[in-house]
Amino acid sequence: MTQDEAKQLAAVAALAHVRDDMIVGVGTGSTVNLFIDALASANLALRGAISSSEASTARLRKHGIEVVDLNSADAPEVYIDGADEADSHLRLIKGGGGALTREKIVAAASGRFICIVDESKVVDVLGKFPLPVEVIPMARSYIARQMIRLGGTPVWREGFITDNGNHILDVHNFKIVDPVGLETEINQLAGVVTVGLFARRPADLLIIGGKDGVKTLR
Ligand code: A5P
Repeated sequence: MTQDEAKQLAAVAALAHVRDDMIVGVGTGSTVNLFIDALASANLALRGAISSSEASTARLRKHGIEVVDLNSADAPEVYIDGADEADSHLRLIKGGGGALTREKIVAAASGRFICIVDESKVVDVLGKFPLPVEVIPMARSYIARQMIRLGGTPVWREGFITDNGNHILDVHNFKIVDPVGLETEINQLAGVVTVGLFARRPADLLIIGGKDGVKTLR
């Protein structure tokens, strides 16, 4: 089975959690793209979608799914998003696609957060995937020095500007044994917009696609 086929299994399985009349939060990435396509084929009478990125908004609209503003809609009952890494406690690293800030906002505002991944994303300890940190541009060097102080190796994602006009540092070499502690510590640094650790608000359900079919962790 290819990685794309495993993603497809997880994406389609997430449809079981979406019903007519819902407002659905929609994440970002290649797994979510498959979910958006499946959602469109299902022809549900949604009240609308809350999108976490310009890319997902464009894909939703292309399919004729109405995208509504989080400020003027009810909270999404469910949020469907992918991840770059997930552990067995449903804590995640996200932000490989750079949409971490809006993703964290929609996850926080939603009733249930359902994460869809292929089995290659599931790890014992988070941190092999470089941890994305979105920073205000003038704080980039300062935050890079703070990441070194915390034991990481930051790399500026040069040439990439987030949907919010900010920069991203990808921090390598963190072995994240205390995800809640590290998320809290990085969050508090002046100039950090969002850290791509989703541990204080982990997923509620992890749907994993793989060679043995679909597994769920809750
Ligand atoms: C986007 O910023 C990320 O958080 C994505 O959710 C993550 O990178 C997963 O993407 P794929 O589904 O493409 O692996």
